[in-house]
Amino acid sequence: MSSAITKAVIPAAGLGTRFLPATKAMPKEMLPVVDKPAIQYVVEEAVDAGITDVLMITGRNKNALENHFDRVTELEVALQKKGDLERLRRVNKSTDLADLHYVRQGDPRGLGHAVLRAKLHVGNNSFAVLLGDDIIDSRDVLLRRMVEVATQRDTSVIALLEVDPSLSSMYGIATVERTDEDDVVRVTGLVEKPSPADAPSNLAVIGRYVLRPEVFTVLERTPPGKGDEIQLTDALQEMAASDEYGGVYGIVFRGRRYDTGDRLDYIKAIVQLAADRDDLGPDVRSWLKGFVAGLD
Ligand code: G1P
Repeated sequence: MSSAITKAVIPAAGLGTRFLPATKAMPKEMLPVVDKPAIQYVVEEAVDAGITDVLMITGRNKNALENHFDRVTELEVALQKKGDLERLRRVNKSTDLADLHYVRQGDPRGLGHAVLRAKLHVGNNSFAVLLGDDIIDSRDVLLRRMVEVATQRDTSVIALLEVDPSLSSMYGIATVERTDEDDVVRVTGLVEKPSPADAPSNLAVIGRYVLRPEVFTVLERTPPGKGDEIQLTDALQEMAASDEYGGVYGIVFRGRRYDTGDRLDYIKAIVQLAADRDDLGPDVRSWLKGFVAGLD
């Protein structure tokens, strides 16, 4: 059995083109979802699953990310003076979450290339990868379960979600076999963003992975694939096809997932999360009812 999984890698070097001009001077991971940047939900989820060390793969504009997870002494002093301890607690939460590290991706050569940049930091241990566009509701368990299965079976584990077949070209799509556990499948094949006609199933890869360190060796020899980029999906396909690396398993997730990667889904995520909150929820829900009633 492998040792405890304590490191996570978060690729955050994307250009955020879908959100321009908001992302002109700021990484898309810093876009607020209600009152927290999207990236903080993701780091909190990692920490909840036992991660203590996070490596972010960044691009230019990384300063806002680093600053968000750092102390702001003036702000802390000002809040303390005012006696606003609740806000102080919220401000400090992002600082105390985990041990954070940053490395730049350099050439944007795809998700596989971004993950490969973590090789030195991660070393010879299994590790988690979390993509910032997906937010998993903190009331539903995903990463913790993936870590458990990866540890028990000494394997790599990906997160799968049933999607409408028309959406296959937005995701890696998996072919799977059942196992003796209801939520666990064995992955027998993976293909990156197939057209609906070519999709082998409706099980899409969502942005959570727990990977054995051999993925780095495989990524090093993975040629550019879809979009001329080095695809993590292609490396995982090779690992799924071989017994050498413990295979690849999947957790079929049936909980709440919010996609903040495109504008419409981002708006939906904010409304859903705000409506569910204890503090804002009652007002948001009552306003929303009136707003919807007034629509044509
Ligand atoms: C990446 C992966 C894809 C996966 C998706 C999940 O694509 O390449 O296999 O299904 O994340 O969000 P991206 O969304 O970065 O284009």
